[in-house]
Amino acid sequence: MKQNTVATLAAMKARGERISQLTCYDYTTARLMDDAGVNMILVGDSLGMTMQGYADTLPVTVEEMIIYGRSVARGCRNTFVVLDMPFMSYQISPQQALETAGRMMKEAQVDAVKLEGGRTVADQIRAITDAGIPVVGHVGMTPQSYHAFGGFKVQGKEEDSARRVLEDALAVQEAGAFAVVLECVPPKLAALISRTLDIITIGIGAGEGCDGQVLVYQDMLGMTGDRVPKFVKRFAEAGQLMQEAFRAYDSQVKSGAFPAAEHAYGKSDCADEILARLEEEQAGSNWKLCSVM
Ligand code: KIV
Repeated sequence: MKQNTVATLAAMKARGERISQLTCYDYTTARLMDDAGVNMILVGDSLGMTMQGYADTLPVTVEEMIIYGRSVARGCRNTFVVLDMPFMSYQISPQQALETAGRMMKEAQVDAVKLEGGRTVADQIRAITDAGIPVVGHVGMTPQSYHAFGGFKVQGKEEDSARRVLEDALAVQEAGAFAVVLECVPPKLAALISRTLDIITIGIGAGEGCDGQVLVYQDMLGMTGDRVPKFVKRFAEAGQLMQEAFRAYDSQVKSGAFPAAEHAYGKSDCADEILARLEEEQAGSNWKLCSVM
């Protein structure tokens, strides 16, 4: 059993311990996060932007989510892995949601699924949790609906919208989810929701009062340039480091400085007599290594 499960994460909230979560989309990075002790990974449909270069998350498919999710799951011995359900893979009906969630769990071998929305998807959450699949909800600014919001905007500043966000979070809990992401929600509202709910709240752009925090890993590693949301803290300048390494590689390949003798299989190199024979054979025949005609 993993060190991080639905039960251990709930116990962390009960003890007042904060929960760490990052997005991740590949095996190598998942192993690094797992070794670092990160509690949860979200294989978010943000991969549409970070890995696939789309302007938003809407084009991402279930098949793509499964491929990325499976790669991450293989890298995690202890980190709890949540896989995002992409746009239009659950909105149509509880039946569709259950079929998609079941397929994602079976084929990607993750620990839970996440879907966006509150009261409007409560029946979907209920159908999935009734089948024994752990669900994470996602309320506040939900990127799959950003056309409806008119952009990526903070949700819950006015009384009406604050009440909507709270009621959505309560509906997600009532429907059986074990956690909920609060995205771009004013900090005091997010803190109130976190105090009110029994289930875990994970904040992104929602202040310090949530039970846990999630960030997109390319943002927190400084790989996405200067145009990052205000709530992102850069924990490293990995983008700059990578670019320096790529430049050094490019210039050393071109100058001949790489590879040096220590990068070649010198000890098991071909004996000089063998090379001499090959050269002689080449010179004395019209036999060509690559010729198949
Ligand atoms: O897709 C994603 O990465 C997300 C997080 C931003 C919460 O939903």
